[in-house]
Amino acid sequence: MCGIVGYIGGRQASGILLNSIKRLEYRGYDSAGIATTIGGKILLKKDIGKIDEVDKKVNFSELKGDIGIAHTRWATCGKVTKDNAHPHTGCGGKIAIIHNGIIENHSELHEELAEKGHRFVSETDTEVIVHLIEDNYKGDLKEAVLVALKKLEGSYALGVIHSDHNELVAARNDSPLIIGVGDGENFIASDVPAILDHTKKVIYLDNEEVAVLKKDGLEVFGLDGNKREKEVHEVDWDSTQAEKQGYKHFMLKEIFEQPQAVTEAIKGRVEDSNIMIKDEIGLSEEQIKKINRIIIVACGTSWHAGLVGEFMLEELVDIPVEVEYASEFRYRDPIVDENTLVIAISQSGETADTLAALREAKKKGAKVVSIVNVKGSSIDRESDSVIYTYAGPEIGVASTKAFTSQLVVLYLITVYFGKLKGLLPEEQVRNRVRDLRKLPLQMQSVLEEKDYIKLHAEKFYQRKNALYLGRGINYPIALEGALKLKEISYIHAEGYPAAEMKHGPIALIDKDMPVVFIATKDDRTYKKVLSNIEEVKSRGGEVIAIESKGDDDVKKIVDHNFYIPENSYILTPILAVIPLQLLAYYIADLKGCSVDNPRNLAKAVSVE
Ligand code: G6P
Repeated sequence: MCGIVGYIGGRQASGILLNSIKRLEYRGYDSAGIATTIGGKILLKKDIGKIDEVDKKVNFSELKGDIGIAHTRWATCGKVTKDNAHPHTGCGGKIAIIHNGIIENHSELHEELAEKGHRFVSETDTEVIVHLIEDNYKGDLKEAVLVALKKLEGSYALGVIHSDHNELVAARNDSPLIIGVGDGENFIASDVPAILDHTKKVIYLDNEEVAVLKKDGLEVFGLDGNKREKEVHEVDWDSTQAEKQGYKHFMLKEIFEQPQAVTEAIKGRVEDSNIMIKDEIGLSEEQIKKINRIIIVACGTSWHAGLVGEFMLEELVDIPVEVEYASEFRYRDPIVDENTLVIAISQSGETADTLAALREAKKKGAKVVSIVNVKGSSIDRESDSVIYTYAGPEIGVASTKAFTSQLVVLYLITVYFGKLKGLLPEEQVRNRVRDLRKLPLQMQSVLEEKDYIKLHAEKFYQRKNALYLGRGINYPIALEGALKLKEISYIHAEGYPAAEMKHGPIALIDKDMPVVFIATKDDRTYKKVLSNIEEVKSRGGEVIAIESKGDDDVKKIVDHNFYIPENSYILTPILAVIPLQLLAYYIADLKGCSVDNPRNLAKAVSVE
């Protein structure tokens, strides 16, 4: 995945690059490096470890020069070693590059270049790019990059510097890259938060585009060398949103931002009994009435949001819904036609599998409406229409506020479709809107229980396993609760539909296995869940329940209770997930885990 940034301007590059690359640490954190150019030389420092650890070892501030590139790595090709860390240089040491992506034909290129005498020092696919540029360099850096790119197969976001040129060359294909337009300085970055301290003016590079950045200007070209006009966008995030603001971790901050994030997702979209998403959804009333199938494609937490969406849509809109892992969708020749609506859900808008699924669906004639958090991302740009979640930057690798905002958007789509199809009369829509508006305050009240949840984390943080069970619309919340725990605390956790427990996981239950039930009163399977709890209790399991405030029936039979306020059945997941996020967070923190950057994970998975 990796994060890349580049700078050219009037200030010392290394300090700016160091701060910027830290903002991208969620994209990868196994090694880091910076290269600058000054006085006809490339200066370079890199090593393995998180950015701060590498900085302590190498002291990046010693790198002088006002042009530079920086990289934080999530290893794909080649082990985590100093040699494999970026930037990479060519044989002559005059060109340095950073790369995010995968070069699929690197072995062939490596062979060709080695035969020509190029000496390779790393195991990475990236190194072929710098040798290829070097091989084609005849005094014009942009031209050399253009020639090299035509030989590459695969994905890349690239930053290239040459010690004899006062310019920074960037290029992208299927890996995210933006240009930040400053005053007397310009930037490149994998993502907007990296440059928010310096500028809010952004150009989104498209695939197969090359940019030449100078101190006082920039130009963008196609691979054919023809110049392209690009629009400069003003982003509406500010730099404080990308800071911890006193919270110990981004994840905790983002959990606490959920009432605000949900408010933003609702803002301007509901009024009385009106759901005002017509323009965003980009479908006519006639098109919506013709939809006979909905396929939701997503990965990870966004996939769990899709599962909740399936319940919402089937319940209120009467259209069959399938929820697909984006990574599987494109490999099984899915049945899709012009009356199929495909909804792609992605926080980052850059998940390679979701992007590939979206392209497959479009190729087959489906309309693709996406639910995306990051404006200008690939999924944003390639979808027929997009409904933004407006959750603000999410930096913690484990997704929290993006999830609850995605659920709000799915709810808005559901109620909108239900109304248009005549399945939800005016009065019901009004009630549904009223329920939705209750959420931010209700979420706030759940968050206020944080100390109580922390006390429970102290009881459980040394356990080795956990089981999460729920039914109906809360089954995906069981999956999400288990995912949160395992990804940040490394405790093995499984989510299951509560009734399926009898077909396998029940064998695991003993006094050492905490079992988390989502057992809210408004759930229509409530009584059945009570029986499932009894089954666990009678086998010695310790039960923690997420339950409705004032529900004594659950309280009587379980060991630990987390209460959530009552709302309509289909909005319950948005409240029920919060104690599970907090529980996972506090357990991981007590274990001393790297909460925001869990091992082996990356926030935006831009490789398939
Ligand atoms: C990664 C992240 C998850 C995220 C998933 C999908 O695995 O660690 O938190 O849910 O990707 O990401 P997306 O940006 O498409 O929602």
